[in-house]
Amino acid sequence: MFPLEFPISVMGKFRKKDLRVLDPFCGRGTTIFAARLKGHQAYGIDCSPIAIAIARAKLAETVDSDVMALAEEILQSETEVVVPEGEYWEWAYSAATLQEVCKLREGLKGLRSDAANLLRAICLGALHGPLTLRVDTRSYFSNQMPRTFASKPDYSVRFWKAKALKPVPVDVLKVIKNRVTRLKLDSLPECEGMSRVSAADSRLARGYASVPETIDLVITSPPYYGMRTYVADQWLRNWFLGGLPEVPYGEKNPLSHQSPEAFAESLAQVWDRVGERLSAKGRMFVRFGAIPSRKAKPREIMLASLEHSRFSWKVCHVRRAESAASGKRQACHMGDRVKSDAIAEHDYEISL
Ligand SMILES: C[S@@+](CC[C@H](N)C(=O)[O-])C[C@H]1O[C@@H](n2cnc3c(N)ncnc32)[C@H](O)[C@@H]1O
Repeated sequence: MFPLEFPISVMGKFRKKDLRVLDPFCGRGTTIFAARLKGHQAYGIDCSPIAIAIARAKLAETVDSDVMALAEEILQSETEVVVPEGEYWEWAYSAATLQEVCKLREGLKGLRSDAANLLRAICLGALHGPLTLRVDTRSYFSNQMPRTFASKPDYSVRFWKAKALKPVPVDVLKVIKNRVTRLKLDSLPECEGMSRVSAADSRLARGYASVPETIDLVITSPPYYGMRTYVADQWLRNWFLGGLPEVPYGEKNPLSHQSPEAFAESLAQVWDRVGERLSAKGRMFVRFGAIPSRKAKPREIMLASLEHSRFSWKVCHVRRAESAASGKRQACHMGDRVKSDAIAEHDYEISL
């Protein structure tokens, strides 16, 4: 995720009101949300169901009472739910909490209202995270876990057993209420125009069906070369969205991570789609870096991807982004292992 300040500061460079802003790798919708705050139209595309669920909530126009009413209705319903079984689930949640989480999972299936989109994203955010000392200020449903990614089942069980960390019952409705209140929904501006988030592979034309023919601004951050485990790292959230109660190993990636060249070529397919829509005076801002475990030069990959595109892109500026390590990078809350090292990132300002 890039920080909200990045798209906000990019949008601040443009005088035009009501810009049409596109993010073809919208992730959790930071660009989309920034566009909403600044009164611009926002269009996002992502292929991860978790990213889509969270990004859609950034466009939700609803109020606290509607979200809470929906949560209460689902939790009070008599619906029978399938509760996953096994050691992991016994340690991850108290039995009562897991029952309620499963009710929310079932009750939200297929619901598409703004209140449902928001409640779904709130549940995804509350599904796992660190414990707080006081039970009444809990923000998460789970036993001790990292907030940003779901640790793998065997590792988690070993950790909880070694620390004798038994899960405690959580007041699920209260966690939801605390989170809704923090969002200050009534202070959010309405969404402009036909703002939309689409679940699609952004290399393919059909992902752009809801995107207007002309776009003024693209602000995006593609996956870094070698970063392939978006859904496996989010397996618990994927389960909540209707997936299987297990880590989906062997995830299919729409961008090729076989070699830097192949990766640059798949990125170029996205720049081709974007080029079809970006206005002559439009700008594209791309934050791109590398993960340290892959020996690849991110600047070379970025420039090669533009070269491979059928449009003639011009790189206007390249700036070093503030290091992810100096920002709020989360250390692992399950012991002292850290998920990933610092990432060197650059911001590319590009025109046609
Ligand atoms: C670095 S993240 C974007 C994070 C985003 N800027 C934010 O603030 O949340 C890259 C995103 O690209 C998505 N992605 C990867 N390949 C894609 C493709 N071919 N089409 C659409 N989305 C893709 C991943 O699912 C991931 O959410």
